[in-house]
Amino acid sequence: MITVGDFRIGAEEKEVINEVIKSGRISEGKYVKKFELEFAKKVGVKYCVALSSGTSALIAGLLSLIYSGKIKKGSKVITTPVTYIATSNAIMLCGLEPVYVDIDSKTFCITPENIEKLLKISDPEEYSLILPVHLMGYPCDMEEIVKIAQKYNLLVFEDAAQAHNTKIKGKNVGTFSIMADYSFYIAHNIQVGEMGAIVTDDKELAGLVRQIKANGRMCDCLECTRNQNKCPKEPVDDDNDPRFTHNIIGYNFKTMEFQAALGILQISKIEEIIKKRRENVKKLNEKLKNFENILQLPYYDENISYLAYPLVIKDTLKISRLKLRKELANNGIESRPLFGCIPTQQPAYSFLKDKYTGKLPVAENIGKNGFYIGCHQYLTENDIDYIGEIFKKILK
Ligand SMILES: Cc1ncc(COP(=O)(O)O)c(C=O)c1O
Repeated sequence: MITVGDFRIGAEEKEVINEVIKSGRISEGKYVKKFELEFAKKVGVKYCVALSSGTSALIAGLLSLIYSGKIKKGSKVITTPVTYIATSNAIMLCGLEPVYVDIDSKTFCITPENIEKLLKISDPEEYSLILPVHLMGYPCDMEEIVKIAQKYNLLVFEDAAQAHNTKIKGKNVGTFSIMADYSFYIAHNIQVGEMGAIVTDDKELAGLVRQIKANGRMCDCLECTRNQNKCPKEPVDDDNDPRFTHNIIGYNFKTMEFQAALGILQISKIEEIIKKRRENVKKLNEKLKNFENILQLPYYDENISYLAYPLVIKDTLKISRLKLRKELANNGIESRPLFGCIPTQQPAYSFLKDKYTGKLPVAENIGKNGFYIGCHQYLTENDIDYIGEIFKKILK
């Protein structure tokens, strides 16, 4: 099977897992701390907080904006209809209202034009945030999105879960806004199984995310100094321990040392991994170039960190997505649909269907006809030749 994603546990991975076991501590500790410092440095921000998943990072991040008073509960959030469902779910679960604008057909990202068009016909006071997603590794036009946000007094929160190391003019995505989330789920650009992170330059928000991920406990220190008999939060009163005194309401979104140790290893290999993925996209584009009348191939750029190899069927009379994906599966090539247009194609959001049907034509088309196969670093030349041959066989 040529999988969409893959993660191989080699000698180095086994070694770091064994180091964690030998350390005697598997819940959050020194590896999580090291991961946070290294990922913050890699992205180019002051703070990183590791969490159990990208979904929990989104929820904790949005809640931190609400708790800090930077955005209002119940306010509207401009976001994309085409993304993994977690983005919308987090908005809903935080008591915010997602408002969808259409995407660009080539990058799958929401466009500044569509955002501004919406704001011009709305009451901007009802909105608090723009939440763009850098889908499949493609960067949204952050310079323009930030300008619009400033004009209408909105904040921006980037969902960079699929875009580790994607750059805009040399700067990482995730650094253009007040905060960003990343996911390190198994099939992502860099990966550890299950883990997420919030990155930000805002110390207060980083502290709040630390609290929220630990049931709202008072501890928000970047580094715990209790074992040196120093705790800036003590005494809470004569008898209370800040670890068990909760001044806000939160979740348990903590991660584990194993994931963080694997994450540190992944960070050390990030350039090599992303380069290999990019090369694979280029090679696959070469193999499939004769089918450009039937398929929209992914646009290639040196600054993009590809999550996968996304394709959109242009000639749906020639072949349907269902048939093409089935044929690929029959030939051992795994694929995934490009998520669906959330308000019109995802059952959980059917309450929005009437409101949005026909309003998001690009998203609806991508949701119906888009899909992706793997471009991961473990693909071999043979795999790429084979994928080319199979597409030729199916589409001839
Ligand atoms: C764009 C986007 N946001 C958020 C998430 C949530 O991440 P996780 O699966 O780690 O919860 C994902 C996961 O695939 C994603 O693709």
